[in-house]
Amino acid sequence: MEFEVELRWKTPQEWVDAVLADLPSFLQDHADCERKASSMAMSFIAKCPDRVEMIPELIEIALEELVHFKLVYEVMDSKGIALPKQLESDNYIAQLIKKCRSGLNERLLDRMVVASIVEARGAERFRMVAENIEDVDLKKFYDMLWKSEFKHSDVFLRLALSYWPRETIHQRLNYFLDEEAIICKSLPFRAALH
Ligand SMILES: [Fe+2]
Ligand SMILES: [Fe+2]
Repeated sequence: MEFEVELRWKTPQEWVDAVLADLPSFLQDHADCERKASSMAMSFIAKCPDRVEMIPELIEIALEELVHFKLVYEVMDSKGIALPKQLESDNYIAQLIKKCRSGLNERLLDRMVVASIVEARGAERFRMVAENIEDVDLKKFYDMLWKSEFKHSDVFLRLALSYWPRETIHQRLNYFLDEEAIICKSLPFRAALH
């Protein structure tokens, strides 16, 4: 790993308790997060087709997130849980995006740093699910997932190294880690990833 993304606020046990109290809602939200993660990787490509150094790995991430979506959907299907018609908006992501600067170059770096931190938060929380859930198959599933998301958190920052100095990336990472901790801490616990 090139960068160690160390979150500055630890998710408390109350979050995983809320998730396990309503697993169907959590799975619905989780599926949606995977679908959005896949589209987000593809949208980086759509916005910056000239940044050829990062295209192959962005395609890989989009594919991996799509596989995650497929796997969550299969779990839902086996339990008779439908995809949600409508979900509450994801305030966590919306607030982080609001903190991104405007200007093509600055915004791209900020969005990549945010993507990296969101992956790290996903990894932290999927790991908590893996450690707390009793269902053996889901335990294995979330154990596989958190490791995959943890790797993604590094990929976005490593890709940024092709275009920005390490020091600049570290500055933005430092800024967003503080902001993310404040945002994450302020949100109520619900049976959702964020
Ligand atoms: Fe994922
Ligand atoms: Fe991911």
